[in-house]
Amino acid sequence: MTADAAGPSTTDPNPRTWPADVPLADLDFWSGSLEEREQGFARLRGTWPMPYYPEPESPLPAGPGFWALTRHADVAEASRRPEDFCSGQGATHIPDFPPEFAEFFGSIIEMDDPRHQRLRRIVSRAFTPRMIKKFESDVDATAKEIVDDVVERGACDFVTDVAARLPLKVICDMMGVPTKDHRFVFDRSNVILGVADPEYVEQEGGGHIEALLTAGAELAELMRDLAGFRRDNPTDDVTSALVNAEVDGESLTTDELASFFVLLLAAGNETTRNAISHGLRLVTEHPDQRELWLSNFERYTPTAVEEIVRLASPVVWMRRTATRDTDLNGKPVREGDKMLLFYWSANRDEAVFTDPLGFDITRDPNPHVGFGARGPHFCLGAHLARREITLLFRELFERLPDIRTVGEPQRLRSSFINGIKHMNCEFTPRPRA
Ligand code: HEM
Repeated sequence: MTADAAGPSTTDPNPRTWPADVPLADLDFWSGSLEEREQGFARLRGTWPMPYYPEPESPLPAGPGFWALTRHADVAEASRRPEDFCSGQGATHIPDFPPEFAEFFGSIIEMDDPRHQRLRRIVSRAFTPRMIKKFESDVDATAKEIVDDVVERGACDFVTDVAARLPLKVICDMMGVPTKDHRFVFDRSNVILGVADPEYVEQEGGGHIEALLTAGAELAELMRDLAGFRRDNPTDDVTSALVNAEVDGESLTTDELASFFVLLLAAGNETTRNAISHGLRLVTEHPDQRELWLSNFERYTPTAVEEIVRLASPVVWMRRTATRDTDLNGKPVREGDKMLLFYWSANRDEAVFTDPLGFDITRDPNPHVGFGARGPHFCLGAHLARREITLLFRELFERLPDIRTVGEPQRLRSSFINGIKHMNCEFTPRPRA
């Protein structure tokens, strides 16, 4: 049953109905225009901040539905209370996954304490500022190489030729994946996050689930082989550190390492790629902000990067599940209820951000939740992502200061990832370095 757009029509403070004109469970809504999406969420935040939706169509058995959390305060509160709103029953998908998925897709993002804490402590050592510093010169060299490959052309597909290459290479290099396997890894990670998009997965015949499982299994296999090799032949890569060292007497099993690798590819690759692509779109649409940023790159970069992540919100939502009958800022929920934390909407909440749809590279403070809100699952790769965005924009602005998008970006068909698949760009050509 749906109610009308004005707001809930019953006296129940939290009715299990949804507004028909903001169809969040319908994939077509997510392929529609960004303006429509912005208006829809603004209406929800203003009149009906936590509607209940049926689950989207899926080859997996349909569940009872989900609450959509659209306000910043509700997203922050749910993230802060992991004992009431857990991640262990599913975080990146709405239907519950069958047990065979856990083998490849069951890493820390889908775990609760104490197991989450134990594993996070071990993998965190790959993401300390010291480790990131160590990789910084590699990230910088990769950014230079990527820009060098396009600099003479005057035009390219910014996503596939520039934005997608950096995060993929950074993760593969960190983990010690040989260059010959990077393309293989890229294709499989596209399948995992683009499973509803016909460019990556054939949509007829219901083969999505098989495609997802195959991609996960192939990546896990690659990592198992690598881990086996690094146990006996350690280098300074993260795989060697994770399989050989111990934290408080514990290290990762090969299977834990394999599913962590699949998570890193999913969590660190598409997200950063999309932040970079949206970044170029935003500076193209806001020439005054580009001018300002170019006028003093070092000064404006820290706030510009946060503003890009806020407006891009590359991860649109994460799921939590209520572990008991409770309430969320006064709205009752029952044990087992699923909730989607819409970061994309929270990041445009007019109760928190002045001129929320504006792109302001000096915005400070900027309490966005693009990397998640404060809580145990806050993005482990946030520092790394910030460095990647910074170093790539530094290289682009130094060598191609007039780079701009042309035409409409081709967006990914997904409610979960705010993705751009292809986006043409132009610039004044320059000689290679
Ligand atoms: C702009 C880029 C990125 C964005 C927007 C982003 C966003 C997020 C979000 C929203 C979460 C979930 C937070 C929650 O459930 O409370 C997350 C978790 C995570 N991210 Fe990122 N991320 C980015 C880049 C990266 C990178 C580069 C890596 C690593 C290479 C990474 C690794 C992870 C991991 C391992 C988790 C799971 C943490 C846990 O469950 O304890 N992310 N990220």
